[in-house]
Amino acid sequence: MTDAFLGTRALRSLLGEWKDGGGPLYQALYDRIRLLVLDGRIPAGTRLPAERELAQALEVSRTLVTSAYRELREGGYTTSVRGSGSVTRVPGRANLAVDAVGGYLDFTKAIMPASPGIALATQQSMDDFGRYLQGPGYNFEGIPELREAVATRYTVRGLPTTPDQILVTTGAQSAIALLSRVLLARGDRALVELPSYPHAYEALAQAGARLVPVSVTPGEGWDESALEQLIRRTNPAVGYLMPDFHNPTGESMPAGLREQTIDQATRAGTTLLVDETSGELDIDRVDSLLPFASYATPGDERTVVTIGSVGKTIWDGLRVGWIRAEPGLIRTLAAARPSSDLGTPVLEQLIVTRMLPDMPSILDGRREQLREGRDRLEQIVDERFPAWSAPRVAGGIASWVGLGSAVSSQLALAARAEGLLITAGPRFGLDGALERFLRIPLGYPTAQLEQGMDALARAWQAIMRNPMPGAQAFGDVA
Ligand SMILES: Cc1ncc(COP(=O)(O)O)c(C=O)c1O
Repeated sequence: MTDAFLGTRALRSLLGEWKDGGGPLYQALYDRIRLLVLDGRIPAGTRLPAERELAQALEVSRTLVTSAYRELREGGYTTSVRGSGSVTRVPGRANLAVDAVGGYLDFTKAIMPASPGIALATQQSMDDFGRYLQGPGYNFEGIPELREAVATRYTVRGLPTTPDQILVTTGAQSAIALLSRVLLARGDRALVELPSYPHAYEALAQAGARLVPVSVTPGEGWDESALEQLIRRTNPAVGYLMPDFHNPTGESMPAGLREQTIDQATRAGTTLLVDETSGELDIDRVDSLLPFASYATPGDERTVVTIGSVGKTIWDGLRVGWIRAEPGLIRTLAAARPSSDLGTPVLEQLIVTRMLPDMPSILDGRREQLREGRDRLEQIVDERFPAWSAPRVAGGIASWVGLGSAVSSQLALAARAEGLLITAGPRFGLDGALERFLRIPLGYPTAQLEQGMDALARAWQAIMRNPMPGAQAFGDVA
């Protein structure tokens, strides 16, 4: 059950021009409310206004509202609760954290629920889509309106950008793979962070790179002198970095180190692939940092190639990402693209074009969700896992929790027996290191986070009872 209540005024404003669509009015009202529910703009669990009040506010007959509410109920979009009226629900909606195959609670992905507004943007994009149906459909660089919208977003954020600096990709992952393929030759060195996003390691390695790691420590950040020495001594062809917010530690690279790293990379001839897919997910950082590429000085702009995506901000199901680079490299990438990918679906690009101008309010929603997740996780670790440490992160989608002993794989295995899938620390590293850490996602609804942490507490207890030979002493679990 819920406490959320939607007043007639609020519903009327959400409904907008609902009578304009043609067809029976009760159907139009039903359709409009249904879309608002599916889209998350009326959250599941919200009590709708009473029929009579809504009829008055909309200046329609009560019978009309009764019919629309009946359709909603029959379609599974509301349930009638005695004394509470109609409460919204999403029919057949999968739980974000439930793995579709085995019914496990799934914490292997650091993801967030879809932002509200996608269904509406999709509906509105159908009009724009019509124009595209007359054309070829293939567009290796991305559709012009989206390249323009992405460039505008960078410019608004303080990094002047033109559309010819943008290549739209199928999510950030395809951007990483394309850049690896184009910029690396077999045997080249690629500087990477340790820990890092595992699919980036894979893309770089598949392109033939030898990975040279620099460590990022929770609470301390980048090993500055190692970073400097590695760039100078190994002359990597590329460096793959996540300066904001680093996945999985949530660290943010200080401005001075950004400038220094760009300068060193320019001198070494290293192209920095800067993955900012979580770059705008700050929770409570006081001094907002500019995009990494803003720290380049005239002459070394070519050193920085930025990777972006709406996966973590709008929804990962849209599969829209991009590369920001100088126009010459964008053309090279577009020319190299077809062997693996003939472009990003047009409809999804149109949807993102519509939604990008709303990014400030989308980010406000993300900030709230992530803050709630982070604060609740810190509290649970404090209360129930005295041996663990969860350093406070200022942003990002995950916490890199220290376990106090090298048992991450054992814990992940025990968690599976408790119904929770979670990725052990070594998956974020090279050569089996990082057994003392576990990545816990921050973007899940609180109830699901709590459920996962309950499973982890049971798993922790189980491995405490049966420590594996060689594992160090465990702390208590409360
Ligand atoms: C750091 C990082 N880069 C790239 C990706 C892939 O993003 P996309 O879903 O846009 O392909 C992810 C997804 O989790 C990520 O965490």
